[in-house]
Amino acid sequence: MFEFVAFLLMASFSTLPGFREFYPEDFAQRKHVFQIWRQVARRFAFREYDGPVLESLELFTAKSGPEIESQLFCFEDKGGRAVSLRPELTPSLARMVAARANGLKRPVKWFSIGDNFRYEKPQKGRLRCFTQLNVDILGESGPAAEVELIGLLIQTLLGFGLTEEDFYIRLSDRDLWLLYLELLGYEGEVALEILGVVDKWERLDTAKLLAHLSDIAGEGAAKLKASIDGFLALDSLEAVKACFASTGSGLSEQAAKRLKARLDDWSTVIEGIGAMGFGAFAKIDLSIVRGLAYYTGFVFEAFDRKNEFRALAGGGRYDELVEKMGGPEIPAVGFGMGDVVLMELLKARGKMPQFLDTLDCYVVLGGEEEKKTALSDIALLRQAGYSVEYPMKLPNFGKQFKAASAAGARFALVYGSEELAKDVVKIRNMADRSEQEVPRALLLEAVRELF
Ligand code: HAM
Repeated sequence: MFEFVAFLLMASFSTLPGFREFYPEDFAQRKHVFQIWRQVARRFAFREYDGPVLESLELFTAKSGPEIESQLFCFEDKGGRAVSLRPELTPSLARMVAARANGLKRPVKWFSIGDNFRYEKPQKGRLRCFTQLNVDILGESGPAAEVELIGLLIQTLLGFGLTEEDFYIRLSDRDLWLLYLELLGYEGEVALEILGVVDKWERLDTAKLLAHLSDIAGEGAAKLKASIDGFLALDSLEAVKACFASTGSGLSEQAAKRLKARLDDWSTVIEGIGAMGFGAFAKIDLSIVRGLAYYTGFVFEAFDRKNEFRALAGGGRYDELVEKMGGPEIPAVGFGMGDVVLMELLKARGKMPQFLDTLDCYVVLGGEEEKKTALSDIALLRQAGYSVEYPMKLPNFGKQFKAASAAGARFALVYGSEELAKDVVKIRNMADRSEQEVPRALLLEAVRELF
């Protein structure tokens, strides 16, 4: 009976589905991830910022699109406002840049590391609370921004020790898709609906795809599906060019100009990634169209090579979002990388380091009298920046030395009655067990010399 009650109590206080706890060993791993994210973003000269975790619900219903809308962690606050935990940072970023658009030095190169919340079904690689690195460039319309961001994305993953065998980037382009669909006779809202189906292409069987396409294209569904299959099979810029050349001259003069500009931008992106030495990491893959509503041009996602995991990162160009947030026209491109899939991949490929506890000094105490004396030295050493620990209770010396080893201490500082009588401290090097005595007054200097 008691056990049953205890179980019920425990069950009612377990974490919510999709939320994680980080015990110190897990926290060390996450900290490692954040350190590399920050380090690489700084190397690329991005500045760190953050937005609010709670926003008005409308920000996301209006800007993120239907896929995210169904996953919002939303509620009414005590003031009767409809609010939502942020499922992503991009709409907040666009608002921040819109608000200060005139005063910001362009291009704006900003990054952020923060928690996001999506009410998804928790599963491998997908949780309800996850941390995302967001890296964005605003104010640069040319493909140089894509090159910089894709370069950063690749260098970040390399920074974790992952290699060409572990991951790759799938590059695509919503604008190119729209031009292709225009050639097939589909434009505006209809074309966007078709892209919504393309986004599900890998997940749905033929019957379901055809059913979706019939809703949009009626009798033309089968032909449309074949054309989409053909476009999805293209895996090089030459093949894309050939496809447009052979599909004919159905484009308006304006669309033909747009197509030429797109293909030129594609050449620049591919050449730029190649010039950075990362050509082998990137692959044209037009199946990537991205579920978020605001993307306008290039889109890309990072995946593990074996396709065992969900996307490691995803992003693209969103040239209209700042304007939609009430700002001027400011082109923008960026990506988000979550910590969940990344950590799963690092563990699976043996790239997650083992983190050992370390400590500079462990103080071994003879008794309460010695402790009183030692406390002032401990305070001095801590103030000088050394990590120092001492036992709360006072077991015998042997146990204290064991505790010093377990804590990963480099040195033990021994305060026994003999040492105190001579006004010295015995310093033991925990690695080779060598010992030396130093006058208490010179302890800090002696410790400084040791480090
Ligand atoms: P996203 O593709 O929705 O893009 O998310 C980017 C990455 O965040 C994913 O590739 C994945 O690693 C991670 N992620 C997303 N949802 C979850 C989840 N439920 N659990 C764990 N990880 C998740 C965006 O969020 C865009 N706002 C990125 C962006 C920035 N675009 C432009 N700038």
